Amino acid sequence: MLGEYIYSRDYIDILKDFDEARFETPESFLENLSPIVPRLYSIASSLQAHPGEVHLCISVVRFESHGREKKGLASGFFADHAELFVKNIPVYVQESRTFRLPTDKSTDIIMVGPGTGIAPFRAFLEQRVLEGANGRNWLIFGEQHRATDFLYGEEFLAHQKKGTLHRLDLAFSRDQEHKIYVQHRMLENAQELWAWLQKGAYFYVCGDAKRMAKDVHQTLIEIARTQGGLSPEKAAEYVNTTLMRTERRYLRDVY
Ligand SMILES: Cc1cc2nc3c(=O)[nH]c(=O)nc-3n(C[C@H](O)[C@H](O)[C@H](O)COP(=O)(O)OP(=O)(O)OC[C@H]3O[C@@H](n4cnc5c(N)ncnc54)[C@H](O)[C@@H]3O)c2cc1C
Ligand SMILES: NC(=O)c1ccc[n+]([C@@H]2O[C@H](COP(=O)([O-])OP(=O)(O)OC[C@H]3O[C@@H](n4cnc5c(N)ncnc54)[C@H](OP(=O)(O)O)[C@@H]3O)[C@@H](O)[C@H]2O)c1
Repeated sequence: MLGEYIYSRDYIDILKDFDEARFETPESFLENLSPIVPRLYSIASSLQAHPGEVHLCISVVRFESHGREKKGLASGFFADHAELFVKNIPVYVQESRTFRLPTDKSTDIIMVGPGTGIAPFRAFLEQRVLEGANGRNWLIFGEQHRATDFLYGEEFLAHQKKGTLHRLDLAFSRDQEHKIYVQHRMLENAQELWAWLQKGAYFYVCGDAKRMAKDVHQTLIEIARTQGGLSPEKAAEYVNTTLMRTERRYLRDVY
């Protein structure tokens, strides 16, 4: 009950609800606040392609709650208050030990990254091109509208034209009456996706954990069942154990 009350309210909402609350000094109020926790953002650029730079792809959190317009602390700061090229924003790099490109450059990769989940894959592709990797690259990207949300669209289309992006499948969810999501593109291309996996392709997923990553996971199991002729149990075991744990070529960075 208390947890539910606090979940959607910030300090201003609570102080408005209890206007009898008094603090002796501003400091005594500040002492009650929790420290701000860091926010993580995937790096969307290859250091080798952009020396001295780190590119981020940030979705700005904006919503209305308890009669006030609110915004995400970090994403709202970047959108509304951070000047371009300022150097005084405290940041650190948290290296990922697992979400990495295959060391064998001839390995194919399949990247599923809707929304801001595209970030690491833009970097992956830049890096693969610079390293002259000869494995094939397949990107499955989704967003709401092609006209406004095709993130890094020109770059990916250029990669496709040059032959450095071998497959590009797009799922714009709100450009038609019914929803089209990345997992629908996976299903439409199930036979080819299975063939890539059978040849040892790595399968990467990045982006929303609550809905998208779960659905993509189920779709992968479904593809193993229909294309691999496996029972539902064996298909789940192939994805959860063989791909994820034993061979470690189904890698996720979801949030
Ligand atoms: C490994 C990892 C990688 C990530 N990579 C990226 C990335 O590349 N790009 C990116 O944009 N983000 C990324 N994120 C998410 C990012 O770290 C932040 O969580 C996100 O930007 C929100 O932070 P914020 O400070 O702007 O919002 P906060 O101030 O933390 O506010 C978010 C909170 O606002 C509330 N809220 C949000 N919407 C609503 C609503 N409609 N109604 C009511 N309440 C709401 C919820 O309580 C939510 O938890 C990543 C996260 C992780 C863990
Ligand atoms: N839990 C939530 O309700 C919620 C909502 C928005 C954002 N977020 C969070 O916001 C952050 C970043 O979001 P984002 O801006 O990168 O994009 P996003 O909200 O992940 O949306 C990107 C695309 O994914 C689609 N999508 C929605 N549900 C899906 C599903 N089950 N399977 C596959 N695709 C699906 C969206 O379609 P539609 O929008 O047309 O459905 C949109 O086209 C993440 O941390 C995410 O968890 C959470």
